[in-house]
Amino acid sequence: MEPAEAGHLTIMVASPKGGCGKTTVAALLAQELARAGDVLLIDGDRQGSSFLWFTVAKAHGSKLAGVWVEKIEGNERIADRVKSASGFIAVIVEVAGYAEATLALEAVACDLVVIPTQPHVLDCYQVVQIVKYLRDMERAGAPIAHKVVLNRMTAMTRNSVAARAALDVLRNADVEWCRHALWERSVFAKVMTGAALYELAGDRDGSVERAQNNLRAVVDELLSDFLSEPEERAEAAHG
Ligand SMILES: Nc1ncnc2c1ncn2[C@@H]1O[C@H](COP(=O)(O)OP(=O)(O)OP(=O)(O)O)[C@@H](O)[C@H]1O
Ligand SMILES: [Mg+2]
Repeated sequence: MEPAEAGHLTIMVASPKGGCGKTTVAALLAQELARAGDVLLIDGDRQGSSFLWFTVAKAHGSKLAGVWVEKIEGNERIADRVKSASGFIAVIVEVAGYAEATLALEAVACDLVVIPTQPHVLDCYQVVQIVKYLRDMERAGAPIAHKVVLNRMTAMTRNSVAARAALDVLRNADVEWCRHALWERSVFAKVMTGAALYELAGDRDGSVERAQNNLRAVVDELLSDFLSEPEERAEAAHG
């Protein structure tokens, strides 16, 4: 992974929409990246769900090697922590809500904003709002790369009228989304009850492996501009 200026890649997971999968995406992203090096996940959401996930998983005996989670309130404190974090390949900051996200974007220097959304019309309108905000920042000379990732996709919804209408909302606002979606998976839901994706025993139907492969494809696409050598990263993760 190519480190950013501060020596680590700083990724903000943000969305104005509640329940779209911020905590899930942040926790999964941390676990995937931790296969290559230490990752700090800063839980900036007052609900503290990612911190809770981490605490419960640890209490259940998960090692979660390389994953560190801190609950920090206040954008200035988050910004300071991002700056002072050393020895991490990546720092992930999770923030919730439109007002919170925009204030966090003003305060915290990040390399990439990941915006999870369910493929629903109202959710996608919210995505457009935050992307417009990011475009305004870009016009003001403070560009931040952003990627929209569709979450909780299912075979049923993928080609549904509702999902197509949702994607039209994005398309009409010139908002692009990642080709790889994060699928609705019981394995992801299970991890979020306090487990580690890479410590789950393989199952007969292969659902754990499929979830891992799904996550890997999404993360590779999300970080394609930063991972110059995906093969190297894979080697580092397995070696
Ligand atoms: N890809 C997925 N597969 C299965 N379940 C999912 C997936 N993404 C999210 N969920 C479930 O949906 C619920 C909401 O997800 P999550 O808590 O990540 O959203 P959030 O945006 O952080 O919500 P909040 O706004 O309340 O903080 C959780 O119960 C989570 O387990
Ligand atoms: Mg959350």
